Amino acid sequence: MRELARKLGVNRITVEAAFSRLEASGLVHSHVGRGTFVAHPGPEAPPKPPVTPDPEAVARFWGPLFVDLRSSTPTMPALGIKPGSKSISFVPAAPPPDLFPAADLRRCMDFVLKRRVAEIARVGPSDGLPSLKAYLVRWLSQHGIAASEDEVLITTGCQQAMDLIRKALIGPGDALLMENPTYPGAVTALSSSHVERLELPVHDRGLDLRVFQSLNGRNRSKLVYCVPNFQNPTGGAMPLEARQQLVAYASQMRIPILEDDVFGELHYNGAALPPLKSLAPHLVIYIGSFSKMLTPGLRVGWVVAPRPVIKQLRVLKQATDLQTNLFMQAALDEFCRRDLLHHHLKRVRRVFMRRRDALAESLRRHFPPEARWQLPSGGLSIWVSLHPGFNAEQFLRVAQENGVEFLPGSVFYFRSPMYNSLRLSFAAEDEARIQEGIRTLGSLLQTHSARSRDLESWLDPPRAPIM
Ligand SMILES: Cc1ncc(COP(=O)(O)O)c(C=O)c1O
Repeated sequence: MRELARKLGVNRITVEAAFSRLEASGLVHSHVGRGTFVAHPGPEAPPKPPVTPDPEAVARFWGPLFVDLRSSTPTMPALGIKPGSKSISFVPAAPPPDLFPAADLRRCMDFVLKRRVAEIARVGPSDGLPSLKAYLVRWLSQHGIAASEDEVLITTGCQQAMDLIRKALIGPGDALLMENPTYPGAVTALSSSHVERLELPVHDRGLDLRVFQSLNGRNRSKLVYCVPNFQNPTGGAMPLEARQQLVAYASQMRIPILEDDVFGELHYNGAALPPLKSLAPHLVIYIGSFSKMLTPGLRVGWVVAPRPVIKQLRVLKQATDLQTNLFMQAALDEFCRRDLLHHHLKRVRRVFMRRRDALAESLRRHFPPEARWQLPSGGLSIWVSLHPGFNAEQFLRVAQENGVEFLPGSVFYFRSPMYNSLRLSFAAEDEARIQEGIRTLGSLLQTHSARSRDLESWLDPPRAPIM
């Protein structure tokens, strides 16, 4: 220090003060008897986190990064339907919580946790728990579907089955034949903005198959999607002759069929008709799930398809989520093996049949004579059409103000929506509330139809179709 002070021509105390400051700011460190050393530069001070921009700026940042989702279906909240509201609801086409066999399923879960832990506490096969697949194979054989276990893949519901099937079969520029109206979730899962959707119109008398004749020579269709048993939304069951014709056309045109049988077990007037899969095993991919039998919250379903298709789907399933929840598969396997599914179905069929009949009787009594509907032999909904100028979307708003909810038919069309239909599901409410809800809708229809004839406010809506 003395040396440095001399060189710089300053007092030694000044040099000592400068060194103390350097040490205090971490730039040097001193060791008694060894001297003072320049400190290694430490890590740079971390950059200050950016100030969070306002939500609109966040949306502007992310917006351009997303892939094109223009083909998505709008969700139900867009209709202002809030889950858990106190209204009388004809919206859910799924079993209500009070019909869920919680005690039985809990015993099955306990058993799995006591006795089958080795089977579930691991990563399992992507195509599903072998014992559940074996059960399904036996069960499906009672419906005329002859499949082996390597023709079955367990999925996270029908919804995932459709997603995997699209990934395996449908690419940009391909076409897809679908019933119109149909389940909107299928439209979203099976098609994208680069896929052409061709419609198979669904009329009062069933499916219109004439479109197959017009396909000649320019067939880019990769799949025909249909719900032969208790179609969503119309509730219709495809007659045997139509099933045979559909299979014959598809086979002639070499177009595979995707048969969605999610409602198949909910039949109230004798067994359902033979599945398409039983009529043409090599041509049909068959999907089903526990969602409508027990509850959609379980998320367990299946695909039954020819071996090459399952092989492809297994690879895609692995990439998507490795496997469907093994614990739930094992619990449902127990549930089925103890014959509890069979007993549960007997019970819910009785309940749903009574609710269907209460709805039908109330419609007869309270809806205007021009209302057209058919008693479905299964499923969870009745499809009601009113006069051609009627607008069910507008009517929904009036109904909601009066404590009743339903789905306007227009949300089920992917092309040329019809606005004069309502889907009334009878799953969620008991007979008394069904009667009360339909009485309310009936009297609103009377008042508002009369007023609308004067105001012409029920004529076709002045807005773009939902999808
Ligand atoms: C015709 C149809 N298929 C599939 C699904 C979805 O089934 P999952 O719950 O098995 O995915 C629904 C749900 O409402 C449906 O109506």
